[in-house]
Amino acid sequence: MINGEITKAINFDNAATTPPFVSVVEEINNFSKWYSSIHRGTGFKSQASSKFYDNSREKIADFVHADLEKDVVIYTKNTTESINMLSNILSKNKMNNKNVILSTDMEHHSNDLPWREKFVVDYISIDIDGRLRLDDLNAKFKKYKGKVLLVTVTGASNVTGYKNPIHEIAKIAHENDAEILVDGAQLAPHGKIHMGSHDSIHHIDYLAFSAHKMYAPFGIGVLIGPKKIFNDNSPDFQGGGTIELVTHDYIKWADTPDKNEAGTPNIMGVVALVESIKTLENIGMNYLEKYESNLVEYALSQMKRIPGIKFYINPVNNVDRVSIIPFNMEGINHLLLANILSKEAGIAVRNGCFCAQPYVQRLLNISLEEMEMRKKEPKSSHPGMVRLSFGLYNTYNEIDILVKTLSYITHNKKAYIDKYGSL
Ligand SMILES: Cc1ncc(COP(=O)(O)O)c(C=O)c1O
Repeated sequence: MINGEITKAINFDNAATTPPFVSVVEEINNFSKWYSSIHRGTGFKSQASSKFYDNSREKIADFVHADLEKDVVIYTKNTTESINMLSNILSKNKMNNKNVILSTDMEHHSNDLPWREKFVVDYISIDIDGRLRLDDLNAKFKKYKGKVLLVTVTGASNVTGYKNPIHEIAKIAHENDAEILVDGAQLAPHGKIHMGSHDSIHHIDYLAFSAHKMYAPFGIGVLIGPKKIFNDNSPDFQGGGTIELVTHDYIKWADTPDKNEAGTPNIMGVVALVESIKTLENIGMNYLEKYESNLVEYALSQMKRIPGIKFYINPVNNVDRVSIIPFNMEGINHLLLANILSKEAGIAVRNGCFCAQPYVQRLLNISLEEMEMRKKEPKSSHPGMVRLSFGLYNTYNEIDILVKTLSYITHNKKAYIDKYGSL
């Protein structure tokens, strides 16, 4: 800490990246004996590594209830790469002149920017609490009269933790002859996901998520979707591992997933993800969901008592949310508060706009005119919030330390502002 004392670190920034499970680190160690290149060698280790890599897709598909008869599990670097890959593939495949993507007002930039240059993008709006408005989804389908290709929506917001009714949205999309992508980055670590049968109107067509947010570092992400779309289109990344036959003037692409995983695959990332899924399943996703929800309830009940705390969720309606609490403290800039928590108590939180600027601007009630004026200001003075995001290993005791620290800060604001500067 700033006073030179050593303290136990508290990590309330799990929505960004979680620490690895011990089981994951151990499995990485164990697997090192077999570690070798994938699909490139006849050596025993290469065969063993390749077998593990290929079979791993079943584990991932089971975890989210995808149908491997029809779906493919493609490994990427992270959610961002998965969504970029899908946007590239779909832009090559604009069927029936459908060129509209419906994103939402509550997306992470990774589920907004990849669509902008390739499609007409419109945003489903949010209500006063910041939750998605399904009436607006229906209105947008009417407005675009059959031109919507895809609804792309976050499973759970990384700002408010609000979960979206993805199966209801899927139904509306399918009834309007469109598909749905769920950005599962904040959903996969916190609860069950059911992509479901292709025969169901509630089925999720595409799903993306990142292993580093589910206790499995080493840089792997996942994109799941119908094999057909990937087999029917050339891959966006091209090179080693993607072809069956090539001459100077001829390419025969391999089938998906190989054609969509150019270059040497990240086997250690996959080992880590498979192990983290096993550990999550052993703990039990229902248990985990309940535990994290109890942590949030407890934190909210304690934080509500601190003068000057403003929440950007409805604190009395904590349903359908993952374990995230966005807030500010009156009279103290979000960056300053995050710094004080770190330097005075070893508490890691996130502050700013969390790569979801349009959503945060709406929740903060900042008008477009004000944002226009603020464009010239330095980044450090941009509006924002502080975000707590809990993982399954966080404790009530850690929340007590946070609450005690926040109470102390709110009662000694002037002293802290004098010490750290007002920002
Ligand atoms: C909702 C959501 N979508 C997408 C992403 C991007 O994930 P990654 O950085 O792993 O690509 C994040 C990361 O915080 C997120 O919270």
